[in-house]
Amino acid sequence: MSPTMSVMRIASFGAQGRGRLSLQRTTSFLSSNRVEYRASTTTSERERAKSVAAFYNQPAVEAAAKKRTVRLTPSAILYHGRTDDEATTLKSAQYLQKELPVRIAKRIIAFRDLPFIVGCNPIILGVHELYLRAFNILNSFETIKTREDEVNYSRKLKELLEDHQNVVTNLAAGFRECRRHIQNEELVVRFLDKTLTSRLGIRMLAQHHLSLRESKPNYVGIINVAMKLKEVIERSCQFVSRVAEHKYGRVPQLKLSGHVNAVFPYIELPLDYILPEVLKNAVRATVESHSEFEMMRLPPIHITIASNEIDFIIRISDRGGGIPHHLMDRALEYNFTTANEENSDSTQLEGRVFSDMMEAVNPNPAGGPMHGFGFGLPTSRAYAEYMGGSLEIQAMQGIGTDVYLRLKHINSPSASFRI
Ligand SMILES: Nc1ncnc2c1ncn2[C@@H]1O[C@H](COP(=O)(O)OP(=O)(O)OP(=O)(O)O)[C@@H](O)[C@H]1O
Ligand SMILES: [Mg+2]
Repeated sequence: MSPTMSVMRIASFGAQGRGRLSLQRTTSFLSSNRVEYRASTTTSERERAKSVAAFYNQPAVEAAAKKRTVRLTPSAILYHGRTDDEATTLKSAQYLQKELPVRIAKRIIAFRDLPFIVGCNPIILGVHELYLRAFNILNSFETIKTREDEVNYSRKLKELLEDHQNVVTNLAAGFRECRRHIQNEELVVRFLDKTLTSRLGIRMLAQHHLSLRESKPNYVGIINVAMKLKEVIERSCQFVSRVAEHKYGRVPQLKLSGHVNAVFPYIELPLDYILPEVLKNAVRATVESHSEFEMMRLPPIHITIASNEIDFIIRISDRGGGIPHHLMDRALEYNFTTANEENSDSTQLEGRVFSDMMEAVNPNPAGGPMHGFGFGLPTSRAYAEYMGGSLEIQAMQGIGTDVYLRLKHINSPSASFRI
């Protein structure tokens, strides 16, 4: 980004997003540091600055952000998606056309409300711009009336899903860069919890629509009507074993027990985010707490499944030494990691997608990073809570760690979640 551009961005961002205080700060920033720049500002540069300002401050965003979101229960999604015809996909696209700009606009407002120094971080600003771009594309899309409109809309949606694939990685990297400037931790936690879970919701809705058009057997959109939990867990185990094999050259055994025959309707997407993160942590702790020279085999990681009529629970128990007492509260904080610069994988990401790894078509045997951002646990907990469940950690210091993931069944007799 050129300095000129960066000043214009900061000026417009501050002026539009942060109210009077930031405007004054911006003005003083411009007048003290950029005297020469101001003196040489040409009309065309001013015009450009104006258009940048207009880009960040669109009345349409504010108007959309004021609207209420319409969150659906999985049962409603299941019911409406049952009939496999054109009218269903058309209706689904029309719902998205109304709903997505509202959700995206609310997120854009949250980016504007970030502390000035955080919002100006180039990586975070890049994500903010991605949201603005998505808003503009979706909000200006012609009203969907025909099958052809729906096809074009779905194509656009698919492209946007791909464009946004790196958002979690970028937020993790951006917040890591400006951590030391953050004074209001609570605000940032709220921002990240909301941004990440809203993103999960948007992706589930978009994927659901795209999947409805494929009519895969056993699926209604993204809902697998007879999901075999064991198979979903095994898929994550294989993925994490491959990543660990590449990084460490050794992997503990991953053993499954409990209600291994459980079959019920559920959405695989959030499980494909959460399980690899928790498993990677367990594998890393196990490998790193047992030196290569120890002759004994690595202790296995036990995964236990329980399913009842209200919820299902997955416990992942490792013998990786546990989490020290003084770090217990911090393990669930965003950007808290015990990975140091040299052994962290986050410096070698090359665009690889943290937390979306299972979703990406992944020809690389390395598969993705093992650890490094301190985003795995807090993101997984936020996702679990969004899905009406919880993620809890019990450590036995000196022995190992148990992580309990609880999720409500979508047809649970007690109130289910909304997407
Ligand atoms: N099973 C575990 N055993 C021991 N320590 C753990 C375990 N799970 C998490 N931790 C500790 O909690 C920290 C935070 O975990 P988290 O998954 O959020 O981040 P990370 O693994 O360091 O990086 P990433 O963003 O790639 O997940 C880890 O760095 C580690 O110190
Ligand atoms: Mg992790």
